[in-house]
Amino acid sequence: MEQLKNNKKYHIKTWGCQMNVYDSQRIGEILLSLGYQETEDLTESDIVILNTCHIREKATEKVYSEIGRLSKLKERRQEIGSNLIIAVSGCVAQAEGEEIQKRSKFVDIVFGPQTWHKLKEMIDAVNSNNKYCNTSFPVEEKFDQLPEILDKNRVKSSSSFVVVQEGCDKFCTYCVVPFTRGAEYSRPTFQILSEVKNLVNAGAKEITLLGQNVSSYNGEHFAGKTWTLGRLIKEIAEIEGLERIRYTTSYPTEIDDELISAHKNIDKLIPFLHLPIQSGSNKILKLMNRKHTNKDYLNIIEKIKSSNPKMAFSSDFIVGFPEEDDNDFKDTLSIINQVGFIQSYAFIYSKRPGTRAFTYEDTSLTTEILKERLKILQEVLTLNQYNFNKNTVGSEFKVLLDREGRKENQIVGKSPYMQTVHINNLSKDYLGKIVNVKILESLPYSLRGELI
Ligand code: SAH
Ligand code: SF4
Ligand code: F3S
Repeated sequence: MEQLKNNKKYHIKTWGCQMNVYDSQRIGEILLSLGYQETEDLTESDIVILNTCHIREKATEKVYSEIGRLSKLKERRQEIGSNLIIAVSGCVAQAEGEEIQKRSKFVDIVFGPQTWHKLKEMIDAVNSNNKYCNTSFPVEEKFDQLPEILDKNRVKSSSSFVVVQEGCDKFCTYCVVPFTRGAEYSRPTFQILSEVKNLVNAGAKEITLLGQNVSSYNGEHFAGKTWTLGRLIKEIAEIEGLERIRYTTSYPTEIDDELISAHKNIDKLIPFLHLPIQSGSNKILKLMNRKHTNKDYLNIIEKIKSSNPKMAFSSDFIVGFPEEDDNDFKDTLSIINQVGFIQSYAFIYSKRPGTRAFTYEDTSLTTEILKERLKILQEVLTLNQYNFNKNTVGSEFKVLLDREGRKENQIVGKSPYMQTVHINNLSKDYLGKIVNVKILESLPYSLRGELI
């Protein structure tokens, strides 16, 4: 594709999950193809895109304070006869649409996660003095219209994201994702395979397959036949030059035999699974509209482990969901100790407009109780992580070296279990390589190793 040049600059600020990171990369590629250059410096930007997250209240609040700051910058620009285009994209844009422009007259463009391919049309509208808002859901379209050029930055760390699935049909009662990302959609296999091949040719050694529910992947392969995630991974693993495959996020009841056998038979697939459970209490899981019990979850973990004993797990937890009492909380602590998660995320429940749980009330859950439960949960999760890290001392792992460390001549990478590994006295030439490393020491949240 011919590169235009317009001497203008763009800046993208990204919040939220890896899907948003992927979208921001694609938005950047489109702007590059329109002749814009990327800048880290807001003051020299001609267009700023805020790619937003709606998952918890705090995430949404941050967006409005950022809009406030940018509006001042825009006003100053207008005073000197120039302009700054402010665009809000992502999940807050999808959820709040025109409301954002009503709250701030300085926001020129609002677009949801499914419409970034229309960016040229949006910028043209603003340049003709119109406001633009598009929150429709033409999900196939955007993947059909990816620009051919690949941003070199996308493979700068030798690790790249590829969206295979988007949207969610699960409707957990606390969650905005089914509303902001729409119904489940799987990209066809040929599209994914060609994107992965392009990335590997451009230097990617690790690919992370992304989706709100990757485990529900059922993309069309050919003649109406569909493939599961396990089958897709098998094919991707055949691509020469690709060394490591990961995927996220999965839903417990969707882990099928093909995926379990992929974890047993495909060396390139890391022995690690992020499998959110949210709570260990069946009462709460039901109120959350999760389709599994704590026992179902344990059975899935058992089945995966008996197929490949090297597998390790991480999870997400929500504390303080309405009606969570001390016993429910104990059930959560108990499941953590039964599974032994090697790293996890814990959040205090945040009430979200539009979700079913928005009307649920529980005034007995005071801020003190919530903070206390989160603290206990995080301590238990940290201890689990620490124990796992300690047990890996002496092991030999393949580590993907993807960034420089804080110390001089230090290179940092990721183990197959997604642990951060520091290696001292190593030259920058190693960046982007996968090397064999012996783990020497376990630190609170990371490891230290040496090349073997
Ligand atoms: N599709 C994934 C992840 C969705 S969002 C899944 O099914 O698990 C990532 C995490 O944010 C969730 O796993 C959940 O733990 C958390 N989360 C979602 N909605 C939340 C809310 N209203 N309050 C607090 N945490 C929330
Ligand atoms: Fe949200 Fe539940 Fe869907 Fe995950 S499965 S995205 S938590 S609704
Ligand atoms: Fe946030 Fe949207 Fe991802 S709400 S977590 S950016 S899907």
